[in-house]
Amino acid sequence: MEENINVLSDTFELYMKKGREAKEKGNIALAKRNFLLASETMMKIAKQSQGKLKEARMERARRLIELSDNINKRPQVSSVKKDNNSNTEEDEDLKKWESAKIPDIKFSDVAGLEDVKKAITIKMINPVKYPEKYKLYGKKTGGGVLLYGPPGTGKTMIAKAIANEVGAKFYAVKGSDIVSKWVGDSEKNINSLFQAANKQDRAIIFIDEMDSLIGRRGVDTHNDKRVNEFLQQIDGFAGKNPNLLLLGATNRPWDIDSAAMRSGRFSQKIYLPLPDADARRFMLEKNMKGVPVVKDFNIEKIVKQTEGYSGADIEELCDRAKDEPLLQSIATDKIVLVSNDDFDRVLKIFPPSVTQKEIQAFENYNAELGSMIKNKNKK
Ligand SMILES: Nc1ncnc2c1ncn2[C@@H]1O[C@H](COP(=O)(O)OP(=O)(O)OP(=O)(O)O)[C@@H](O)[C@H]1O
Ligand SMILES: [Mg+2]
Repeated sequence: MEENINVLSDTFELYMKKGREAKEKGNIALAKRNFLLASETMMKIAKQSQGKLKEARMERARRLIELSDNINKRPQVSSVKKDNNSNTEEDEDLKKWESAKIPDIKFSDVAGLEDVKKAITIKMINPVKYPEKYKLYGKKTGGGVLLYGPPGTGKTMIAKAIANEVGAKFYAVKGSDIVSKWVGDSEKNINSLFQAANKQDRAIIFIDEMDSLIGRRGVDTHNDKRVNEFLQQIDGFAGKNPNLLLLGATNRPWDIDSAAMRSGRFSQKIYLPLPDADARRFMLEKNMKGVPVVKDFNIEKIVKQTEGYSGADIEELCDRAKDEPLLQSIATDKIVLVSNDDFDRVLKIFPPSVTQKEIQAFENYNAELGSMIKNKNKK
């Protein structure tokens, strides 16, 4: 007979509590036993669940086994934590948010977008690097920055570069991941994400695909709960921890709940447009670096041909253009040079991924944003 899920949940909490207490007292054997019992109970709960929730619960049960296995391998609380918070299994749980390492992308890898880099330096990088200067000038810090623009324009890339420049722990989540993995449980996860980041000296929370996490309220109750939790979290840390930076990205800014955009939250919005000619040249050169090309290879011609193509498109174009010469080189065992013809052939069948209609949508949005800012200043 199946046990009642509420009873099981209570039992689970009890084992967890006992496990934690035992661990704090240094009774490793008892702690292990309780975490294993908690894991077993979670597995029973999982078996009575469906779909994504089932997967998430099974995963939780598995993590508890790992935790129990590793319990005596980890250092004691006092040697790793400088705050009083105990190093509980929840800390382990929080680690799931943390990116394994700081990304190795730098600002100098990002083509063009000079205004974007400057705005980000002022708003996100310098406050962390030169806090005393910001204090001296009474500059406001904190709040979030939202990067928006068509797909493939470098939003995710810039976010990684920021983490690298400030040497911060990088907590990267995708809106769609939080929503699908943790159906009905997303609020709790948003909360745990902010807690995890808040414990670090310097951290960036990067939320990709913001629109799927905090859509406009009033359509879907799950979404509304998420938005409320999210707003509470932002308000909770805004201005209190200048070393916790919040960065969002979206290619559908118009779908984000407008309350999230208010001042003190994602008040700064930065548009990442399609690359201009200089940025396209930089990307083409980077993608073709070291590749054997014909003597009269004309990169300027490709710069002109790729107007309207995104960064991601250019990367793919270069990759596809190399296919034919590479195949020939394999067949003949000779070096076959890449030429403009290889690019022309691909360009014929590979239009830009961002359509005119989409570009127009961004232009309309920017115009609306511009007039909103103007009206606000008039008041
Ligand atoms: N400004 C840029 N400089 C250099 N490379 C770029 C740039 N923009 C895009 N790219 C290339 O395109 C790829 C995709 O970019 P990225 O993932 O940052 O796009 P995105 O704006 O986050 O897109 P999406 O909205 O689909 O998430 C990158 O890995 C990079 O190779
Ligand atoms: Mg992206």
